[in-house]
Amino acid sequence: MTVTTDQLREDVARELDRARRRTRALTDAVDDSELVRQHSPLMSPLVWDLAHVGNQEELWLVREVGGREAVRRDLDELYDAFRHARRERPGLPLLSPDEARRYSTGVRDQALDVLSRARFEGDPLLADGFAFGMVIQHEQQHAETMLATHQLRSGVPALAAGPPPAALVPVAGEVLVPGGPFSMGAEVEPWALDNERPSRVVDVPGFFIDAAPVTNAQYAAFIADGGYGDERWWSPEGWAHRQAADLSAPMHWRGAEGGWSCVQFGREAPLAGDQPVVHVCFYEAEAYATWAGRRLPTEAEWEKAARWDPLTGRSRRYPWGDEAPTARHANLGQRHLSPAPVGAYPAGASPLGAHQLIGDVWEWTSSPFVAYPGFAPFPYREYSEVFFGSRQKVLRGGSFGTDAVACRASFRNWDHPIRRQIFSGFRCARDARPDEVR
Ligand SMILES: [Fe+2]
Repeated sequence: MTVTTDQLREDVARELDRARRRTRALTDAVDDSELVRQHSPLMSPLVWDLAHVGNQEELWLVREVGGREAVRRDLDELYDAFRHARRERPGLPLLSPDEARRYSTGVRDQALDVLSRARFEGDPLLADGFAFGMVIQHEQQHAETMLATHQLRSGVPALAAGPPPAALVPVAGEVLVPGGPFSMGAEVEPWALDNERPSRVVDVPGFFIDAAPVTNAQYAAFIADGGYGDERWWSPEGWAHRQAADLSAPMHWRGAEGGWSCVQFGREAPLAGDQPVVHVCFYEAEAYATWAGRRLPTEAEWEKAARWDPLTGRSRRYPWGDEAPTARHANLGQRHLSPAPVGAYPAGASPLGAHQLIGDVWEWTSSPFVAYPGFAPFPYREYSEVFFGSRQKVLRGGSFGTDAVACRASFRNWDHPIRRQIFSGFRCARDARPDEVR
C-alpha cells in the first residue's frame, strides 16, 4: 500500500469515527432499559457490546500498541467473549449505559493519542496500521451483531432507513465459471485477518453458480412444494434439527402459503418476492438446494466466482474490481434495513455476470471453517484458530448490515449451521458437465 503516514493516520481516524457513530446510532436508538435487557438468549444486551468494543480497543490500541497503563483492567474478564456465553451476560455486573459510554469514550481519547504518535512500520501489528484496522473491523462487526439484536427486539420500531434501490436489470439463471486455477485468499489486503491468509493457487473444476442469491419467491415455492415436510431434501442432521426446532419457514416470516409477510425491525410488510431470502440456517439452504436439484457452492467456488477475472487471470478485491464499495456497487453498511431486489446492483456484478455477491445477504457455503495451508495465528489464537474444525460453516460476501471495511471478496465469516438470526441467505451451484465446458 503506497499511502503516506499522514494519510494513513487520517484514514484510520476517519474509520474509527465512522465505526463509533454507528455504535452510537444503534445504542442511542433505544432507552437505557432496553440497552440492559436481553432481547433474545442468542444475543448480548446491547450495553455489553458497547463496553466490549471499548475494552478490545483498550487491549489492542491503548495497552498493546501504545504501551500504556490499563484504563480499567478490572473490566477485562467481564467483557471477554470467551469467558461468558451470551445468555449469561445479562446476569453479569455490567457497566451501566452511562458508564459504558464514558468508558468507551475515554478509551477512544487515548487511542487517538496513540494514533497521533504511531509509526506504521517494524512491528507487524503496526504495519499498514493493522491493529487499528482490526479494531475498526471489530467495532463494525459488533454493529452488525447489534443490528441483529435490533431485529429480534419487540416493541415500537427504533431504526429507520430508506428503502433499497429498485431492480435496474433482469437477473436470472446461472453463470459458468470455467475450470482452472485461481488465487484464493488475501495477498495484498493490508487489513486482511489471519484466517484469510496466506493466499494460494487453487484449481477449481468448472461449475455453474446462480447469477443472484435465491429470492423470497423462489424460497416460498420450496415451502409450497412441501419442502419442510419432505425428509428427502434434508441431510440427516438438517432433518433432525428441522424437527427439533420445528422449522417451517425462514425466521421472521409470518402468515402462510400464498400470503407471506415478514417482520423487519419491528415493521411487518408483505414479503418482497424479488429480494434475496434472509434469516435461513445452513440446513434450510442445503435442503432448498437439494430440492432444486443443485447444491451449495464450496467456499473456493464462491470466491472464484467473486474474484477471478478471466481476462487477466488475477483475483480482484471485489467482483467489480479493486475499487472500494460505493452505494452503486453493493447494499452494505446498514444504508438500508433489508436486502435489495435482485438486479439492483449491475455495477457490482462480477466479470462472469454474477450479481450481488457482496452485500445484501451473507451466503452459506458447503465448506467447514478450516485453516488455509500455512495459516499462522495473528495477532492471537482466539481470533480464528480456536474456531477451526468446529463444524461451523463458512459464509461469504457480507450483508446489508455489514460495513464495507469488514467486507471483501476474500473475507470469511463462520457460524453454526443452525444459526439464522444472522443476515444469512445463499445461492446454489452445480457441477458443469464435460459437454457444458467443452
Ligand atoms: Fe467481539
